Amino acid sequence: MNENKGFDVLGMGCVAVDEILRIPKWPEQDTKVRLNHYDKQCGGLTGNALVAASRFGARCAFAGHLGFDSNSDFVKNTFLTEKVNIDHVPWKNDSMPIHSFIIVDESNDTRTILFHLNGSTGAPVDSPAENVILSSKVLFVDHYGIEGMIRCAKIARRAGIPVVADLERNEWQGFDELISLVDHLIISIKFARKISGCSSPGAIAHKLFTPGKKVVVVTGGEEGCWYIEENRVLKHFPAFKVKAIDTTGCGDVFHGVYSACLADGLPIHERIRLSSAASAMKALHPGAQKGAPTREQVLKFLETR
Ligand SMILES: Nc1ncnc2c1ncn2[C@@H]1O[C@H](COP(=O)(O)OP(=O)(O)O)[C@@H](O)[C@H]1O
Ligand SMILES: [Mg+2]
Repeated sequence: MNENKGFDVLGMGCVAVDEILRIPKWPEQDTKVRLNHYDKQCGGLTGNALVAASRFGARCAFAGHLGFDSNSDFVKNTFLTEKVNIDHVPWKNDSMPIHSFIIVDESNDTRTILFHLNGSTGAPVDSPAENVILSSKVLFVDHYGIEGMIRCAKIARRAGIPVVADLERNEWQGFDELISLVDHLIISIKFARKISGCSSPGAIAHKLFTPGKKVVVVTGGEEGCWYIEENRVLKHFPAFKVKAIDTTGCGDVFHGVYSACLADGLPIHERIRLSSAASAMKALHPGAQKGAPTREQVLKFLETR
């Protein structure tokens, strides 16, 4: 990746500690169930996207809330191992990651996520410093810490730095302003239907392509994704056929690899192709982060397709 800017991808949003519980089938109430598999991994929309982008070769930084509890330590150590910079984290006593319990029902490959918001999480209102944002090639935002996200997105957009977003909830104040500041909007079809009021991928993408947008991508799991850019022609990219065992984090890996490719100056079709391949490869592994592939692994996978 090009060396002349501080970070390729800067993110401040949601990080989580995910406890992954794989069960043979959904239990009756008041019963005991033995797990088929247990694992603990870092997660969260931004945490997963940054780790995926870093594995893909991007220089990434996390500048959202973290504290001094054991889950913050777990996230910190993961970021350090994954070469995600944490120099701009505003460490605070009352900050900590989200704690999630992801139940994967192996009888039908569904995942149910229970989560606890323990303390402040996501983007701080007044950091990172402007020069940190301005020395990044791509700003990555999600819906955690909307006030701080809006501040960062405004600074980035004024300087012509692209803002990539993953959004899954719209109940917090400022959501409309945040989404208007995003120029690369990538969201899954379920949430896209909710906020657009439209049903078909084409109608959704056109409705969400508001002034200032460069790309809108609607992801649809194993159906692949649909995208439009400034010429407003809808394109569909089918998902790569894989034997998926856990789709947790597929969307997050898609966002991370898309952001890395954008920082690298790749054209839209390449961004979509590489992100689709990386997210399909993720589905071969349990949990959100362990399955995120490197750039070399993605290129090798694509040679066989
Ligand atoms: N079962 C699957 N097989 C292959 N690729 C998948 C599968 N599920 C997801 N993907 C890829 O990941 C992308 C994002 O997945 P999606 O489920 O839409 O997002 P989210 O994880 O945010 O709900 C899809 O557009 C597709 O490219
Ligand atoms: Mg998602």
